[in-house]
Amino acid sequence: MKYRTFGKLPFKPSALGFGCMRLPTLGKAAEVDEPQAIEMIRWAIDQGVNYIDTAYPYHDGNSERVVGKALAGGYRERAALATKMPIWMVHEHQDLDRLFEEQRARLGVDRIDYYLLHCLQKGSWPAMRMLGALEWLQERKSRGHIGEIGFSFHDHLDVFKEIVDGFDGWTFCQIQYNFLNVEVQAGTEGLRYAAERGLGVVVMEPLFGGALAHPPPPVQAVWDRASRRRSAVEWALHWLWSQPEVSLVLSGMSAPEQVRENVKAASDSEIGLLGEEENALVDEARRAYKALLAIPCTRCGYCLPCPHGVDIPTNFELYNDAAYFGGNVLTLNRNLYRGMPKAERASACENCGECEEKCPQQIPIREWLPRVHQKFS
Ligand SMILES: NC(=O)c1ccc[n+]([C@@H]2O[C@H](COP(=O)([O-])OP(=O)(O)OC[C@H]3O[C@@H](n4cnc5c(N)ncnc54)[C@H](OP(=O)(O)O)[C@@H]3O)[C@@H](O)[C@H]2O)c1
Ligand code: SF4
Ligand code: SF4
Repeated sequence: MKYRTFGKLPFKPSALGFGCMRLPTLGKAAEVDEPQAIEMIRWAIDQGVNYIDTAYPYHDGNSERVVGKALAGGYRERAALATKMPIWMVHEHQDLDRLFEEQRARLGVDRIDYYLLHCLQKGSWPAMRMLGALEWLQERKSRGHIGEIGFSFHDHLDVFKEIVDGFDGWTFCQIQYNFLNVEVQAGTEGLRYAAERGLGVVVMEPLFGGALAHPPPPVQAVWDRASRRRSAVEWALHWLWSQPEVSLVLSGMSAPEQVRENVKAASDSEIGLLGEEENALVDEARRAYKALLAIPCTRCGYCLPCPHGVDIPTNFELYNDAAYFGGNVLTLNRNLYRGMPKAERASACENCGECEEKCPQQIPIREWLPRVHQKFS
């Protein structure tokens, strides 16, 4: 296993962390295949993985329970444990204590090493401050119940920067990042912004929820041209590990062979492993994916600002990826769409047509926006 740096903290995280949102199941998401999941988590720790990420809602609450069992019997001391406060369930200050105690009981631990506010967004960020969540986190930290304080994030870059700068207590954050999502959410700029300010940056959805593991023929053709052979998964992961700002990459792994492949890749990983030529190939793969998408939006932003506030490029990006990849990406993007402020959603379009005059791709924006809304509603 290779180990990396984690912002300003002395902790040296393994390049690969175990994300426990996609554990093996017996069918339904809530029915975790416990023996298999426990074996996979323990095997990963035996190979040197030292960061395990879970959260209150994963597998309808059973992820935390299974992680607790996996870490019993000596494994707790060998890996850092991360979980998250489900902030959408926090309506008053007392909810923080109630949910946290429930999590400690589920996990069977006194202390959570890395504790995050789950999915902070434009609306929930001021709400959490008003409810005193930041003081509560610091108080729990001072009592030793929490090791480090962080947040996970899926909103826009400007909101990300505001949150990074808005609290001295953060020591790390968690962002969605993969070679397709360089300009979405925090993106490459957000990754660098947080790292420059001394935060450890945990990457989630490195394979875009698994979609990048199964490249369509035009993308596979790009990988086939590489002088060094790598699987699609290895390309996606090494592209991340090559970047010094990435502290660790969380992968959700649903089968033992995936753990084996990803542990092996992590052991081969290095900062700067992909040279200029290989990074250019990844850029080509990104373009090949984008060319397959329904709306030819380049995210140039010329159509903005919409006088009614619609975030046109984000709506199109969410739609394109959901329509093309389906499955996990459709679920993820539906949630993201529903989490957007109402004024920014496709449904807020007033059909004025101003944007279409400015779009260099001549996209019939007013025809597409209702379809976007229909897809996610
Ligand atoms: N805080 C948040 O808001 C938030 C949001 C999302 C994720 N997360 C955390 O971040 C973790 C990582 O995100 P993610 O689970 O979306 O990661 P991901 O790596 O993008 O997707 C995981 C999926 O990729 C596929 N996969 C993984 N390794 C593979 C391999 N070697 N070969 C083929 N397929 C492979 C599997 O798909 P199949 O199961 O279809 O085979 C797996 O379920 C999560 O598990 C969770 O802990 C947090
Ligand atoms: S047509 Fe809709 S999206 Fe375009 S500028 Fe007008 S209100 Fe905004
Ligand atoms: S102007 Fe057109 S291509 Fe550019 S972001 Fe807007 S919709 Fe996309």
